[in-house]
Amino acid sequence: ETSRTLVLLKPDTVRRGLVGEVLSRYEAKGLTVVAMQHRTIDASIADQHYVEHVEKAFYPPLRDFVTSGPLVSLVLEGEHAVEVVRTLNGATDGRAAAPGTIRGDLSLSNRENLVHGSDSSESAAREIAIWFPDL
Ligand code: CMP
Repeated sequence: ETSRTLVLLKPDTVRRGLVGEVLSRYEAKGLTVVAMQHRTIDASIADQHYVEHVEKAFYPPLRDFVTSGPLVSLVLEGEHAVEVVRTLNGATDGRAAAPGTIRGDLSLSNRENLVHGSDSSESAAREIAIWFPDL
């Protein structure tokens, strides 16, 4: 069944000139872009988005990273969009992610891992409301 998910092309993707490469993979798979925005976020948006991580040791440098420059936020729609995006993204740590995945092919970092995809349909609804309140 068709669903939607929230994707971030994080500041490393923009800095490295990989926006087109990464977006192509989602589109080639058959997912549709239904909203997209290029922006630089402040710490308050980062804290809302990563509410479940704000107390974790890795969060302060993660917050610095995601606020360090422009990123691209988008909503993708398609068959099982949440799961499909997570499969395409690969494991969180780029050093361990399987070849063929976005992180496995393009990232060597656990933090600067290029992309974010919602981890469940509940998270997708919560995150879409933060990034695209008009949707
Ligand atoms: P993301 O899918 O956006 O969800 C949480 C993010 O935190 C994750 O991708 C990584 O960018 C980052 N992250 C998760 N675990 C670690 C870790 N152990 N060290 C550094 N960054 C992490």
